[in-house]
Amino acid sequence: MSQDYIKEILFSNDDIIARCKVLGKEITQEYADKNLLVIGLLKGCIPFMAELIKHIECDCEIDFMAVSSYGDETVSSGDVRILKDLDRSVKGYDVVIAEDICDTGRTLKVVKELLLSRGAKSVKIACLLDKKERRVVEMEPDIIGFSIPDAFVVGFGLDYCQKMRNLPYVGILKEEVYQK
Ligand code: IMP
Ligand code: MG
Repeated sequence: MSQDYIKEILFSNDDIIARCKVLGKEITQEYADKNLLVIGLLKGCIPFMAELIKHIECDCEIDFMAVSSYGDETVSSGDVRILKDLDRSVKGYDVVIAEDICDTGRTLKVVKELLLSRGAKSVKIACLLDKKERRVVEMEPDIIGFSIPDAFVVGFGLDYCQKMRNLPYVGILKEEVYQK
């Protein structure tokens, strides 16, 4: 069972919902008179984006992209590929990218620059988690759920070898799971 691999729960389901309510309210105020498009980065965005958009009360469209930088490793390769692109143009939209975590920052930097180059009016980053210590490029998320120390976490969208995204909380993975 996935929960046997968890060393410590960092944020419960209730913690995350409460935080998404606050973030949703902030987004509602900021984008009330804008043309908001929330773009989720699959697959890690799913639980966070689903919770966040419930608390956005202004007009809002959604779309998805899938990019890959990690494979099944716990360390970033720095190689970002587009696996699934958006359904339509971002021209003129005020985009909020929804992502599970900002780690090295490489993925979000590449995607943000791509969307700006395609004519998005503005691009902001919303991530559930921010692992600031690990940053290797200049990337400051605008909307942050929680800042966390440098530990490998899973749950609420975050995976280890594609599993554990379904856990309803965020927890630290036991080291023995990936040190085998
Ligand atoms: P970045 O480009 O290094 O910022 O990588 C971002 C991606 O790495 C995220 O979308 C996650 O898929 C993955 N990632 C980074 N840290 C973790 C973690 O602690 N647990 C699970 N996935 C992670
Ligand atoms: Mg991942």
